[in-house]
Amino acid sequence: MEILMTKIVIFTTFLGLILGFTHRNEYINIATIENTNFDTIPSNLAIYGAQVFKENKCQRCHKLTTDGKKRLISLDGVGGKYPASWFYNLLIDPKAMIPKTRMPSFASLFDKALDNSKFEAMLVMKDKSDWTQTVDSKWEQLNLEVDKLKTSIKQDLNGKGEELSSEGLALIAYLQSIPTSPLLVAQYEKENLLREIELAKHEVEFQKVLNKEPSVITDIANKPLKSDMKIGKKLYIENCGVCHGQEGQGTIGPNLTDDYWIDGNDSYSIAKSIIVGKPEYGMLAFRNQLNPQEIGQITAYLRSIKETNHPDGKAGQEKRIE
Ligand code: HEC
Ligand code: HEC
Repeated sequence: MEILMTKIVIFTTFLGLILGFTHRNEYINIATIENTNFDTIPSNLAIYGAQVFKENKCQRCHKLTTDGKKRLISLDGVGGKYPASWFYNLLIDPKAMIPKTRMPSFASLFDKALDNSKFEAMLVMKDKSDWTQTVDSKWEQLNLEVDKLKTSIKQDLNGKGEELSSEGLALIAYLQSIPTSPLLVAQYEKENLLREIELAKHEVEFQKVLNKEPSVITDIANKPLKSDMKIGKKLYIENCGVCHGQEGQGTIGPNLTDDYWIDGNDSYSIAKSIIVGKPEYGMLAFRNQLNPQEIGQITAYLRSIKETNHPDGKAGQEKRIE
């Protein structure tokens, strides 16, 4: 017993030295790979999982935040990204979830039972002062967490996953607790801002069409290049074909190849129909899906097929069918 205690003291002193040098980041820093800061990991099972992460050298390929070594794949924010069953499938068979990935399988972790004494050693690292009183209750809490996580994964897997009470499960709990770093949040915010600026620029062009003023859209629609026509046709098939037919002959939506038009078939009117849509008839506004150039290209394509009378065209409809 005394030898064991001495070992623990040496062990904890050593760890204390390492942990002592780690500083706490402002956000919940679950772990820095080299020295996991166990104090900030919220769940017992995740504490266990952090250890499993280290033991299996996930850090050979991964880092936990966006900054850091370029060659490492960041797991920043991965905690909020997928359901637990996704992580399960990834660890069992990575290629099933990410085609062609070079991440190896860690299926064997689901054969490794969770070990009470191993967990105890982790708690020693976590808190040197009063770990003795809390080990049992923490182990109990851990097992409750196991049951909860297991139930949620099994539901997703239709009852599969008998092997779940294992180190693999602890690792999933840990992955689920990896937060989004402030740096990544800032990056997302910047991307959103740029997107908003871009959309505002689009909106200027859309308004010109609605006011029947020349714009990028009508310029392209009226004088398309060959490439514009090609792209316009492709975009039409992808976005509009389901309702208006692959060749504009009409299905749910009206035939666009006849000479019956409800809202006019000049460039302004066609572009307007695309920009604002017909929400009351099931056609969404495309102003947030397509940019002005693309709407110009589709309009050019529609101008080229209008009044060509597709042989299988849907019967014309001059007025709205209420
Ligand atoms: C040999 C390198 C390697 C090792 C070791 C490795 N991975 Fe991966 N991992 C990858 C690659 C490559 C990807 C796919 C990234 C991509 O292509 O976008 C990946 C993807 C992931 C993802 C998905 C990330 C996302 O945002 O979609 C998770 C989670 C993950 N790994 C966890 C782990 C865990 C946990 C371990 C240790 C048990 C581990 N990996 C070990 C290479 C590795
Ligand atoms: C979910 C089905 C749906 C999709 C997808 C859809 N539309 Fe429509 N569209 C309709 C319906 C229904 C109408 C008829 C509304 C009405 O009665 O005024 C319509 C009307 C139109 C009109 C006006 C026709 C006229 O007679 O004035 C145009 C032009 C048009 N759509 C083009 C498009 C283009 C281009 C796309 C793809 C970018 C598209 N639509 C995608 C269902 C759809």
